[in-house]
Amino acid sequence: MGRKVALIVGSLRKESFNRKLALALQDMAPESLTLTLVEIGALPLYNEDLDNDTPPQAWTVFRQEVNACEGVLFVTPEYNRSVPGVLKNALDVGSRPYGKSVWAKKPAAIASSTPGGLGAFGANHHLRQSMVFLDVPLLQQPEIYLSQINKAFDEQGKLKDDGIRKLLSGFMSAFAAWVDKHASD
Ligand code: FNR
Repeated sequence: MGRKVALIVGSLRKESFNRKLALALQDMAPESLTLTLVEIGALPLYNEDLDNDTPPQAWTVFRQEVNACEGVLFVTPEYNRSVPGVLKNALDVGSRPYGKSVWAKKPAAIASSTPGGLGAFGANHHLRQSMVFLDVPLLQQPEIYLSQINKAFDEQGKLKDDGIRKLLSGFMSAFAAWVDKHASD
């Protein structure tokens, strides 16, 4: 077993391309990492009024799941040139109560993809903006913005293109080194 890393997908769609991408990344992760899907679809919308001694059970479970990990890998689509609300909600839930954020100092990386032509760059970089405030050491290179992701998988959900596979494999190696580097912080 490698270091445990939370794999968080910004789409709830059953046939989500980003979920397929996340599973492909899970498959090709170096042995030093164990990527575990952490689901965000059942988290009630963040409301400070509920964040008292008995917060919603789903928030507590989510916070525990991320806390148990040594890193986070976000794989996200773009909604209206930004981060899907469901992912932003998960960031907000994990960031509170104040002073107990699950994200702080946790090494992370972002991959974004879209059937469109711009690689979900807008979502990727809006997510980076939140990462700065959340004090997340975020992998800078290589950047992953995948366009035409609808053409990338075969019927079994496997990546068809060797070029993309090579790019992603390099990304995962860099991320594994990044997690290692920050593990002792
Ligand atoms: C989209 N889509 C989209 N795509 C994009 O490249 N830039 C964008 O700003 C948007 N905006 C957007 C808003 C909303 C509300 C939806 C539902 C969709 C299209 C999006 O990339 C496409 O639906 C992907 O298939 C979503 O990712 P998953 O669910 O396949 O992972």
